[in-house]
Amino acid sequence: MAIQRTLSIIKPDATKRDVTGKINQMLERSGLRIIAQKRIKLSQEQAEGFYSVHKDRPFYNDLVNFMMSGPVVVQVLEGENAVKVNRDTMGATNPEEAEEGTIRAEVGLSIEANSVHGSDSEENARSEINFFFKDEEICP
Ligand code: CMP
Repeated sequence: MAIQRTLSIIKPDATKRDVTGKINQMLERSGLRIIAQKRIKLSQEQAEGFYSVHKDRPFYNDLVNFMMSGPVVVQVLEGENAVKVNRDTMGATNPEEAEEGTIRAEVGLSIEANSVHGSDSEENARSEINFFFKDEEICP
């Protein structure tokens, strides 16, 4: 299996409840190495740009406002099959449907406040990582 990188975001609902460490422990226990990480407040431009693929969806404006409602932690994760391993570790988008033991089942509050984002493909991972990180900020 190939070593991959993926982008993870710990969302405002989770940073507000101080569960960043708990989420990081769940990621690391899944074999994902956190090779870059920063806590930032997203600007409107960043939140809109990051989620522009969803701009025609009815939840877009609420999603953008939610992502600006508090700090987020953006991370680059590295490991074998990292895109899928991270998505399996996060669980289903809606915490009510997420499997027991996943981050969203343990920590998520709602489909919007679902605590974490993870890239859904290796190609999107590359562009999402570039959206937040310069090469020199990534320390494998
Ligand atoms: P995320 O993986 O960050 O990608 C897009 C986000 O939109 C998703 O997680 C959800 O938090 C959010 N969202 C809000 N409402 C919905 C919805 N009805 N269907 C899918 N995603 C939603």
